[in-house]
Amino acid sequence: MTDPEFERVTLQFFGVHAPRPSVAGRSAAQIVHENVLAQKAMVREVAEVEAASFIDQPPWQAGDLQALLDEGTATVVLVRRAERCIGYALTRTIPPEAELLRIAIHPEFQGKGLGKLLLNELIAALRSELVTPVEDLFLEVASSNDSASRLYRRCGFVEVGKRPGYYAHSSEDGIIMQHRLCSGCDHDQPV
Ligand SMILES: CC(C)(COP(=O)(O)OP(=O)(O)OC[C@H]1O[C@@H](n2cnc3c(N)ncnc32)[C@H](O)[C@@H]1OP(=O)(O)O)[C@@H](O)C(=O)NCCC(=O)NCCS
Repeated sequence: MTDPEFERVTLQFFGVHAPRPSVAGRSAAQIVHENVLAQKAMVREVAEVEAASFIDQPPWQAGDLQALLDEGTATVVLVRRAERCIGYALTRTIPPEAELLRIAIHPEFQGKGLGKLLLNELIAALRSELVTPVEDLFLEVASSNDSASRLYRRCGFVEVGKRPGYYAHSSEDGIIMQHRLCSGCDHDQPV
């Protein structure tokens, strides 16, 4: 990464693949309360990035994300630059598979390598899950979404199927992509 601004970028994990919080000196009720507050703030930040990033498809609403979090299968990773949330990724994990449901970088910060950083860190977190190993990460991308398709290929995804006319708002095909996560079954990184 060449832009010195990226020294200020940090990632923050919530949900299934988040690091366990420290319990030292805090009651279980306190931890639950803090988690609820942090999650509410995160949902608001994600909704803001969504609204700015998805121009030609409907953005998710805060309620959609909250419902997924309540299922207990979601992981959200926020990209922060200083204090501001400028991107995020959302996965649903049901071992041995996970699905990338959403990824977005705020338009002001696109094309600077942050999408790649975010996705590679997410893949690393899924790979390091020892309790419930995840073997494959799947996603679906609209056939015309060149920037996302390129990002996915650069991060090691390969096309494994197609759903004709999958996207209701545009009648576009959905391209299904897979990334094998188990050790020794990496795809070659295509150019
Ligand atoms: C898709 C998205 C997350 C990529 O994030 P990003 O930070 O801009 O991507 P990066 O800068 O890390 O680039 C990753 C790769 O994608 C390519 N890329 C980025 N923007 C591109 C564009 N507009 N057109 C073509 N390729 C593009 C980059 O060239 C890079 O490949 P390279 O390493 O070969 O150069 C971002 O464009 C976005 O938020 N789009 C709107 C939301 C969306 O469509 N999400 C995906 C569906 S859920």
